[in-house]
Amino acid sequence: MDIRKAYLDFFASKNHEVTPSSPLVPSDATLLFANAGMVPFKGIFTGNEQIPNPPRKTSCQTCIRAGGKHNDLDNVGYTARHHTFFEMLGNFSFGDYFKEQAIAYAWEFVTEVLKLPKDRLYVTVHENDDEAFNLWQKHIQKERIYKFGDKDNFWQMGDTGPCGPCSEIFYDQGQEHFNSSEDYMGGDGDRFLEIWNLVFMQYERSADGVLSPLPKPSIDTGMGLERVTAIKEGKFSNFDSSLFMPIINEISKLCNKTYVYESGASFRVIADHIRTSVFLLAQGLSFDKEGRGYVLRRIVRRALRHGYLLGFKQAFMYKLVDVVCDLMGKHYTYLNEKKDFIKEQLFNEEEKFLSTIEKGIVIFNEELKNTKDVFSANVAFKLYDTYGFPLDLTIDMLREKNISLNEDEFNELMNKQKMLAKASWKGSGDKDVSGDFKLLLEKFGENNFLGYEKTECKAKILALLDDDFKQISSAKNNAWVLFDNSVLYATSGGQNYDLGSIFKDNKKIAEVKEVEKFYDLNLAYLQLNEEVKINDEVLIKIDEERRFSIAKNHSATHLLHYALREVLGPTATQAGSFVDYNRLRFDFNYTRALNKEELEKIQTMVNDMIYASYEADIKTMSIEQAKQMGAMALFDTKYKENVRVLKLGKSIELCGGTHVRNSADIGLFVITKESALSSGVRRIEALTSKYAYLYLKNQADEFNLVKQELKSDNLVKSFANLKNEIKELKNALKNSKEDLTSSKINNVEVCISEFNGFDLKSSVDDFKNKHNNSFIVLLSSNEDKTQVVIGSKNCNIKANDFIKLLGKEFGGGGGGRDDFSSGALKNTNIKEIIEFIKINSKEINAN
Ligand code: ALA
Repeated sequence: MDIRKAYLDFFASKNHEVTPSSPLVPSDATLLFANAGMVPFKGIFTGNEQIPNPPRKTSCQTCIRAGGKHNDLDNVGYTARHHTFFEMLGNFSFGDYFKEQAIAYAWEFVTEVLKLPKDRLYVTVHENDDEAFNLWQKHIQKERIYKFGDKDNFWQMGDTGPCGPCSEIFYDQGQEHFNSSEDYMGGDGDRFLEIWNLVFMQYERSADGVLSPLPKPSIDTGMGLERVTAIKEGKFSNFDSSLFMPIINEISKLCNKTYVYESGASFRVIADHIRTSVFLLAQGLSFDKEGRGYVLRRIVRRALRHGYLLGFKQAFMYKLVDVVCDLMGKHYTYLNEKKDFIKEQLFNEEEKFLSTIEKGIVIFNEELKNTKDVFSANVAFKLYDTYGFPLDLTIDMLREKNISLNEDEFNELMNKQKMLAKASWKGSGDKDVSGDFKLLLEKFGENNFLGYEKTECKAKILALLDDDFKQISSAKNNAWVLFDNSVLYATSGGQNYDLGSIFKDNKKIAEVKEVEKFYDLNLAYLQLNEEVKINDEVLIKIDEERRFSIAKNHSATHLLHYALREVLGPTATQAGSFVDYNRLRFDFNYTRALNKEELEKIQTMVNDMIYASYEADIKTMSIEQAKQMGAMALFDTKYKENVRVLKLGKSIELCGGTHVRNSADIGLFVITKESALSSGVRRIEALTSKYAYLYLKNQADEFNLVKQELKSDNLVKSFANLKNEIKELKNALKNSKEDLTSSKINNVEVCISEFNGFDLKSSVDDFKNKHNNSFIVLLSSNEDKTQVVIGSKNCNIKANDFIKLLGKEFGGGGGGRDDFSSGALKNTNIKEIIEFIKINSKEINAN
């Protein structure tokens, strides 16, 4: 039985529009992957999008639960029914039918289409949902209806979004097959299998957790295709069904090991993960160091590690792509189109990881010998840092041995490493630098930053550190300096550091080369002309021009962020930025490339905000007040209690950076590039002010140069003419190719000809493509030599031998392969050469 089709047909017959699965990477930035059938309809449920006509849909949605709220990754392989990738059948009503009809449809499908025996079915409802409890009694005895609380019977897509109480249908697989104490309705055993979840969508949960009623109560249901297939086939594990066994059999063949359910977790992990990888790669996701691409990488690495346990020492996952495409390519035809690409991507990723996994596993096993209950966080970190083992992979490996890991300790090491990486550009990467910073922080607290209001200030040197961040009492050449007060902005929030000069007794004594924050301490790296000591009093002046340029770019990123959200919608949120004096870049979440119109709109909107001359309004306030003002804040960033809020026109953002006084200061804004940074993240690069002007001026100069070259004032027309000319030339070339005359000798199509077209090689290729048994020699001569290109296909003369023969006879020569060769001869008498070729190819024969 084709359950997928039966389901869609059933609901189509009930006036539902059949909708194809939406992409695994959703346009919704709050979600890692599509994790339920309702994802593409979220906007309809919440009332942000119009209710379609008919107000009912049905779909088979590809889903991934491998991160975020619904994360099944760790269970996969060890249970009968968890998957990272699965297909969810669903029917949806948008303010149309509600509980009564949803229940009736579900019951009809389960009992009359799937024909599951009624005496095996149970249902659950939310403990407060008397309505559903009563409605079900029309179909099933009261004793078979169970009530549960929020944990089991309240469904929500993510931490925010539409949600509601739900009712689930369970199938009893039979007491005789199960005997765990968890095998009761509502327990965690496998005997009672949830096959269908009917969600009565009634609420929307906001970011602060508040539930508000949806405009129209709706229906969202989800039935796992894998589970239902297994039940229909009488299998107790999804992995035993026809959806997975062909993959497991293929794995078994490749590793030459028999699959036994009890000890087969690694087979199941691989079978699951290869499906996920194939679909994600087919849909254009690529391996990455972060975000979704990193989840994909982790999945592949987890599968590889299990492959290692099965004895695979070389790349093997790519060999499973065929069987997945065979199984699923009929319904998801794009899999077949992308097959080779997927194999290549997988192979490369596998090779990359395999080269390190072996060494890592040796280290892991060594450490295991010394471990009782808790694995060393240091070794886990080393595995991560040096051998590329994702943390969850190590935890997964430990799980099999019932050993735990102190994740907090691991995270601490991770943070320390990040800090070291930051300091390492001064050649101190292998030293533990946190010690001195912490001491300084304890002693002096955070030093004052006065740079928002002033461009110069008096300051006292509190501490000096050498290039290895060790404290010193005086310095002559270079040093990191901690001042009590500073106007120098340290790199943070994407804004690059200030430069400046240090004066003592009215004399310049140092240049500021860099300013960075370490453990909240603002430190300046100075190149000194004179010795300085702790407690010296100095004057700090910033490079105002640089600061002003940086401020222009920083303020421009705020306007850009605002414009992006106006044009692309609220999912286009900031993912990072870098603001320098001569350029800016802005990264944001968005799933596709921006088109020309969108980019133009954004650019114009930013410039309009510049022309509008908005006064910058910067205030410090509590985070609560900032939120109330609607200030944009970077997702995932921790803010202090009091925050700075910059209002520039309609843009309101939390920001610790330095800004212009008025948007008009930015002068001009030009987008120079839009590109993909990683999957789901785009990058815009742009210029402002003088740099934008120079960029446009350069373009204009180039434009004028082309005009001069073409001697034309109307470039559009001139290019149209050029295009036409090229087209004509191409046609002429094509004709010259078609002019080639040939004849059949002993079943071989032979062409020996002088050729005056442009491209000998492509003419040879064309000829060979046209004739199955063919031999072609094309010659073209100039004053001092004759070019020869030879093609040979399915005949006894080899192109490579023949060019050698010609070389011997006429001087010069060449090389190539059996089927193609080329070279140059010293003789320029084409007639003579052709004669020679004819004589020497008389014996030609097809093979
Ligand atoms: N959206 C519901 C689920 O995923 C049907 O279970």
